Amino acid sequence: MTKPRLRIGLIGTGFMGKAHVFGFTSAPRVFELPYDLELHTVADITPEAAERARVTLGFAHGTARWQDIVENPEIDLVSITAPNALHKEMSLAAIAAGKHVYCEKPLAPLAQDALEMTLAAEAKGVKTQVGFNYLCNPMLQTAREMIVAGELGEIRGYRGLHAEDYMADPAGPWGFRHDPAGGGALADIGSHALATAEFLCGPITRVMGDCVTMIAERPDGKGGRKKVEVDDLGRAFLRFASGATGSIEGNWIATGRKMQHDFEVYGTKGALAFSQEHFNVLHYFNAADAKGRQGFRRIEAGPDHAPYGLFCVAAGHQIGFNDLKAIEVAGYVNAIAGAPEPFNFRKGLRIQTLVETIQTSSREGRWLEVK
Ligand SMILES: NC(=O)c1ccc[n+]([C@@H]2O[C@H](COP(=O)([O-])OP(=O)(O)OC[C@H]3O[C@@H](n4cnc5c(N)ncnc54)[C@H](O)[C@@H]3O)[C@@H](O)[C@H]2O)c1
Repeated sequence: MTKPRLRIGLIGTGFMGKAHVFGFTSAPRVFELPYDLELHTVADITPEAAERARVTLGFAHGTARWQDIVENPEIDLVSITAPNALHKEMSLAAIAAGKHVYCEKPLAPLAQDALEMTLAAEAKGVKTQVGFNYLCNPMLQTAREMIVAGELGEIRGYRGLHAEDYMADPAGPWGFRHDPAGGGALADIGSHALATAEFLCGPITRVMGDCVTMIAERPDGKGGRKKVEVDDLGRAFLRFASGATGSIEGNWIATGRKMQHDFEVYGTKGALAFSQEHFNVLHYFNAADAKGRQGFRRIEAGPDHAPYGLFCVAAGHQIGFNDLKAIEVAGYVNAIAGAPEPFNFRKGLRIQTLVETIQTSSREGRWLEVK
């Protein structure tokens, strides 16, 4: 039976542009989707980059004007994987043209911008998705199910972080992640830590932040130096609505760390520990185990942790980063057909609000309520 088509326009063809294409191409082969997905047009900043991406990523058309995607009535869905400061203008233009918008995190430079984008999408009735792909990991879903089912008892404490070292070298050039409009470690990767904290433990109500710039200037790529005004690491103490306490850290100068999107959850009956560097494993401690036999047990991802089994029938063989993007795409495409949106602009706005409240708390040196 022929399915209706969703024709896709992609803006930006770097790390995330490619990951979106992996998602769009593997999701229909793994999941039963309500639409056929067509890679229609790809945009990047020069005609050469756009043409290169068209050929390698498999799009029908390429353009150096992202507006061509927004203006084209044939295109149904716009993926935005361009630098943060461009998310707002591109999203608003796509929404105004009636397109569904899949935008990378952080949703916008400021929560005020994210609010404008959210209200525009809701008024227009288009479906949105923000790229918080780590939440698509079946082991995070398992952790949440265990917490919600009470297997850990009452949750007392949470520790989360997202630490990498891609900005640890002071000789690394100033880039879009240093742009005061939407940049900084807390917005860039601390946002993932915040999304995971709320995914697992529910709403955060109060924060006490500490955001620090450790590398004050960087080469500007033109022989000069450029001041860095954003944080290299942002930490926060947290209070959850449930009464649990916690902390998160976003840190891009964590020498030696490549993908430490980690968490630990402590409850009255048990605990969980997880590291994204080994993300097919969840460690579970059950306080009811016999004395002398207690310890964290290792749960290997397998077909019992949906949707792992759709990728691979054998446990322990592991799924990968791009598979998380396929799961994200599948959830979003189902939402376009009427299912609830897994992580829409309103949820992206919530994360941006948390980021800004932590930054303000750090500047003011006091606990703040999250509005
Ligand atoms: N969800 C995740 O896990 C994750 C991981 C990395 C990055 N991101 C997000 O994805 C976005 C892109 O990050 P990246 O690492 O892919 O960056 P990148 O530098 O690898 O890619 C950015 C791309 O956008 C293109 N671009 C810049 N200006 C443009 C314009 N005006 N029109 C069209 N294309 C333009 C660049 O040429 C480049 O191809 C950022 O918002 C970032 O925060 C998300």
